[in-house]
Amino acid sequence: MTKRATPVDLGGRTVLVTGASPGSLGAATAAAFAAWGADVVVTSRSGATGQRLELTDAAAVRAFAAWFAAKHERLDVLVNNAGIHLDLRSTWKQPQLTADGFEIHWRTNYLGTMQLTHLLLPTLLATPGARVVNVVSKLHVRGRNEFLFAPLTPYHSWDAYGLSKLALVHATNELARRHDVGAYAVHPGSVYTHIADRGLEGHRLLTTLRRVAAPLERRALLSPADGAQTTLHCATADDLPSGYYRDCMPTRQSSEADDAAVAARLWDDTAGWVGTL
Ligand SMILES: NC(=O)c1ccc[n+]([C@@H]2O[C@H](COP(=O)([O-])OP(=O)(O)OC[C@H]3O[C@@H](n4cnc5c(N)ncnc54)[C@H](OP(=O)(O)O)[C@@H]3O)[C@@H](O)[C@H]2O)c1
Repeated sequence: MTKRATPVDLGGRTVLVTGASPGSLGAATAAAFAAWGADVVVTSRSGATGQRLELTDAAAVRAFAAWFAAKHERLDVLVNNAGIHLDLRSTWKQPQLTADGFEIHWRTNYLGTMQLTHLLLPTLLATPGARVVNVVSKLHVRGRNEFLFAPLTPYHSWDAYGLSKLALVHATNELARRHDVGAYAVHPGSVYTHIADRGLEGHRLLTTLRRVAAPLERRALLSPADGAQTTLHCATADDLPSGYYRDCMPTRQSSEADDAAVAARLWDDTAGWVGTL
């Protein structure tokens, strides 16, 4: 049975949830926040749902952050939920690169998310009790600290996904150390969303099989509403220590994520990169 967050009155609070397309964890998370009375801003890549935000486009992230800051004086909860896990069949021999030359999981899940977080930090810090929830994955255990600062070799797309999530766990820990903000890294569980559709893009047979097996898969996995519970808990539970959570409980992060010196170096490198954009 899924542990559930306790509903709270979020009247007067502003929440931003990235990656809230229909059927996603973000959509379910945002729906719960709205039901609890929050003023909720959501994003999707296409802009079909909420505001348009493309995390791999630095100018687009800047434009979105400027729009947000102009319209909102406070940000009580930033939920960095948008993310990808491509190449689920691990067929890539080489990384797929974004237009600006980064590995695509790193660019989307980590760098874009961190650019947004850095740009919104002044609004977060101006909001008493503000929190940041980073939706990571238990697969962050596949990440190795050495590859945070050097090319991932040999390349494996699942390791790249894990590395991007390890970086976000480090960023969560470092955010809590450096600033007066509650910071949480959340594994949502295995959830029936569109993440696997995108991960199997281009594989017609598997995509068709998956469509046929959808009712079974839906029963085996958590619903987005259930998968959203730990994020909701971390965003709202009273006096909750910052850290890594799963099933609405604090949980052991990977031993790589325990290295505070690595987290500090990564934070400084990332802030330097954001400063060049
Ligand atoms: N589902 C799981 O079992 C599971 C397990 C562990 C962790 N997670 C994490 O949970 C988060 C949510 O995933 P999900 O399962 O809900 O997947 P999803 O249904 O595919 O939703 C992903 C969301 O991220 C947005 N997005 C993707 N690339 C983006 C980009 N470059 N810029 C801005 N937005 C982008 C998508 O927008 P568009 O639809 O407009 O492209 C969509 O709204 C991800 O961070 C994922 O890594 C999921």
